[in-house]
Amino acid sequence: MTRVVNSIQEWKQIAASPEYKGRAVGFVPTMGAIHRGHLSLIERSRKENEISVVSIFVNPTQFDDPEDLQKYPRPFDQDCQMLESAAVDYLFSPDYHSLYPDEYRYRVQESALSKELCGRFRAGHFEGVLTVVMKLLQLVQARRAYFGEKDYQQYLLVKGMAEAFFLTTEICSCPTVREDDGLAMSSRNVRLSPEGRDKAAEFARRLRTPMNSQERLNALQELGSVDYVEERLGRRFGAIHIDGIRLIDNVKL
Ligand code: PAF
Repeated sequence: MTRVVNSIQEWKQIAASPEYKGRAVGFVPTMGAIHRGHLSLIERSRKENEISVVSIFVNPTQFDDPEDLQKYPRPFDQDCQMLESAAVDYLFSPDYHSLYPDEYRYRVQESALSKELCGRFRAGHFEGVLTVVMKLLQLVQARRAYFGEKDYQQYLLVKGMAEAFFLTTEICSCPTVREDDGLAMSSRNVRLSPEGRDKAAEFARRLRTPMNSQERLNALQELGSVDYVEERLGRRFGAIHIDGIRLIDNVKL
């Protein structure tokens, strides 16, 4: 049975209990709208740890676009059922004021990679991500935390933060889970129209099809407004707006 915890006080008591402290804990932070990508992280956590914790918190500080935050899907009851079926031990879902008692006066900043790729287009995004992940890692005190490779830049930044601040949680990455047509699983996909959904699959395809960089840019621009397509760190990264929804993906080169 998944125990749902909303209060930080209650969570602290759980985390301090001998049944929790002495065990290997795996942690999957999410913003909800659980999909198969999340389930693959949970499956790995369950395999490698004794206790698995999932957090659901739609973190306002990482949204640079108020409409994106407002429209972010929040199917909480359905998420609870999925986590229950996935045999998650704890669902931690605090509210904004309890997770940000400082009203976001204290922040974690990174000054290099966070300014590139998505960071060039989403002011303050990674500051919000790193700050909330730091808070969650401090509270959950997991042995391992799992992040999907779809958000590869996020994974690298969180891993770098954990190393820089000597956190004891090991930051693990898991391969991107895709739909049959190649579209990377994302909570935002449910907001795509049928036509946009086809274009999104085509975005994934065109990102991996061999072509030169100008051809690729042209091919992607036929689908939507392209923020970037760049080869870095042994990967090709892309970000595009389709149906007003920002989608990202990356492929290993
Ligand atoms: O990848 C996400 O869903 C979010 O960025 C995360 C890591 C849960 C932080 O809010």
